[in-house]
Amino acid sequence: YRRLRVALLGAGAVGSQVASLLLEHADELADRAGATLELAGIAVRDIDAPRDVDLPRELFTTDPETLIVGSDIVIELIGGIEPARTHILQAITSGADVVTANKALLATHGAEIFDTADQVGASVYYEAAVAGAIPIIRPLRDSLAGDRVHRIMGIVNGTTNYILDRMDAEGAEFDDVLAEAQALGYAEADPTADVEGYDAAQKAAILASLAFHTAVPLEAVHREGILGIDKAMMDAARHAGYVIKLLAVCERLAGETDASATGEAISVRVYPALVPRTHPLASVHGANNAVFVQAEAAGDLMFYGAGAGGIQTASAVLGDVVSAARRHIAGGVGVGESTRANLPVVAIGRVTTRY
Ligand code: HSE
Repeated sequence: YRRLRVALLGAGAVGSQVASLLLEHADELADRAGATLELAGIAVRDIDAPRDVDLPRELFTTDPETLIVGSDIVIELIGGIEPARTHILQAITSGADVVTANKALLATHGAEIFDTADQVGASVYYEAAVAGAIPIIRPLRDSLAGDRVHRIMGIVNGTTNYILDRMDAEGAEFDDVLAEAQALGYAEADPTADVEGYDAAQKAAILASLAFHTAVPLEAVHREGILGIDKAMMDAARHAGYVIKLLAVCERLAGETDASATGEAISVRVYPALVPRTHPLASVHGANNAVFVQAEAAGDLMFYGAGAGGIQTASAVLGDVVSAARRHIAGGVGVGESTRANLPVVAIGRVTTRY
């Protein structure tokens, strides 16, 4: 097989599992990809930081720039805006394909990254950026490309679902369960991103832009988190036949604006919603995620599985690495993002709380 040089940036909960699986399943991945995936190095801030898995020390470097040079595939799992953005742009312009799980970066600088990739014919893969292990980016971008998506309702943050689920099932206290979610590796480095809905809003912006082929600025996403939800509210919801879930709703609104040629607009919002216990989203427990998609021809689709967790999310990253390797050796052209529909994103909150 031809050898492809793979650079990994970041060795946190997801990165360390990606490195471990790349090494452990090297032969199998080579057969799947049609290329040997050679892990050239792992760029980290602190080589001696504790990690979830043991990795060969000689792979570690604190010099990402040098590691990126000459790499065919760069996996960015640092998270956050900088230095991830600079490294990704360097990787693209030096001819690499990029695999990233960075929802914060894609939701804020996606256009810059995709445009740069288009200019040089590189691809950016980000299946792991939304809903962890669940395949949802490819289904929206590829499988449903011939359909018209009307609405997405998603549970896209594992930490808050874990917290709400434990509060609902066991009457657990918010602070105790948050500490558990952090210990299990579900929460972001700063859990404010989870509990205040920022993480879900970033994912909602990414899902909406794919579903509606429209650039969705993060500022246009209405966001409410789960702070303030207490045991009394959970109990009241349960007695009325509901469960409280943090939902990301992305919706096509027909005839609600004359700002677009078609009279259409979209609304993207994240808020704690009362979900009827009979709805499929009510059965999403623990740190699982689910994305319920309603499309014109396909009807209702539900994507379900692990929404957070190191090894689970590593599965989605490795799938992207195999895709990138296949494309790389085939010499294919980049997979651009289509945002030509250009629908206005209207700033409404939880106004149309329909299920
Ligand atoms: N903190 C995120 C969550 C991790 O809880 O869903 C996965 O993106």
